[in-house]
Amino acid sequence: MFPETRLRRLRRTEGLRSLVRENAVVMDDLIYPLFVEEGIDTPLPIESMPGVSREPEAAVGDAVKAAHAAGVKAIMLFGVSHAKDAEGGDAMRSDGLLARMVRRAKDACPEMTVFADVCFCEYTDHGHCGVIVHGDVHNDRTIANLGAQAVVAAEAGVDVVAPSGMMDGQVAAIRAALDEAGHPNLPIMAYSSKFASGFYGPFREASGTSLKGDRRTYQMDPGNGREALRESLDDEAEGADILMVKPGMPYLDVLARLRDHTLLPLAVYQVSGEYAMIRFAAEAGAIDEDTSIMESLLAFKRAGADLILTYFAKRAGELIRQAG
Ligand code: PBG
Repeated sequence: MFPETRLRRLRRTEGLRSLVRENAVVMDDLIYPLFVEEGIDTPLPIESMPGVSREPEAAVGDAVKAAHAAGVKAIMLFGVSHAKDAEGGDAMRSDGLLARMVRRAKDACPEMTVFADVCFCEYTDHGHCGVIVHGDVHNDRTIANLGAQAVVAAEAGVDVVAPSGMMDGQVAAIRAALDEAGHPNLPIMAYSSKFASGFYGPFREASGTSLKGDRRTYQMDPGNGREALRESLDDEAEGADILMVKPGMPYLDVLARLRDHTLLPLAVYQVSGEYAMIRFAAEAGAIDEDTSIMESLLAFKRAGADLILTYFAKRAGELIRQAG
């Protein structure tokens, strides 16, 4: 009790503060999402995400090497397809965009750990995450396709597959398909607590999806915390190797609760809208950008995340290096 206890004693110098700091963000934690578009020649800036562009397919190798030079050790690839159809067939072809971009990334920079988003929304002409039957995404047909898509990514040399479609049973279906195809050692990072969120707004521009409507019949209701635990523990039981909470900042409570319910590594996705909020607020002079970036990433660590997907990964690399 005061006056014997004075918590400010350990805040007096940066030397002391850094010694007692409970969490740190290091580059080993970060995954940098990368949008790859076929059929374009120059990078296409995404207006709602200043500083982020869609990279031309032919430049994937360079983009991956540039990220690696900036200290990034892992990337997540998203394809922007020009070959969309009702089922997203391109993503299931061994010469489709998904397979090609994974191959290019691994060829250019074998040391980079490459994750692939496994979902159909970037490859369907309606923009939904799977096969539409009677006006809604058909769960069981979609998970069969997800298995095929994951195998295509695996054969192209991906390091981790990351199913993001929120279909029931998708992790089990993908695990079975991978094992059957001779990839029992390929890990699955499941987007297990993925909420139907307004914070994906800029991603819709970034990924060039043609979605009309919303994803509320498959992504989670933002009011549900207990259900997020069920989703996550289901995915664990189905064989997920890493669980993910998404979005990040509005769902730190879910992350912290999940930390107490599983021993698996936990990932969190700081999504496009969270990136945009920080960027635009900083541009308007309302907040200091670098301080806010590192504070947001630290919050994820404090809440229990092991891995963080963030569009700030390259910038964080510079800031971490500067801080020494
Ligand atoms: C696709 C997918 C989405 C994101 C990652 N994978 C969008 C969505 O579900 O609508 C969002 C990423 C972001 O906003 O940064 N299933």
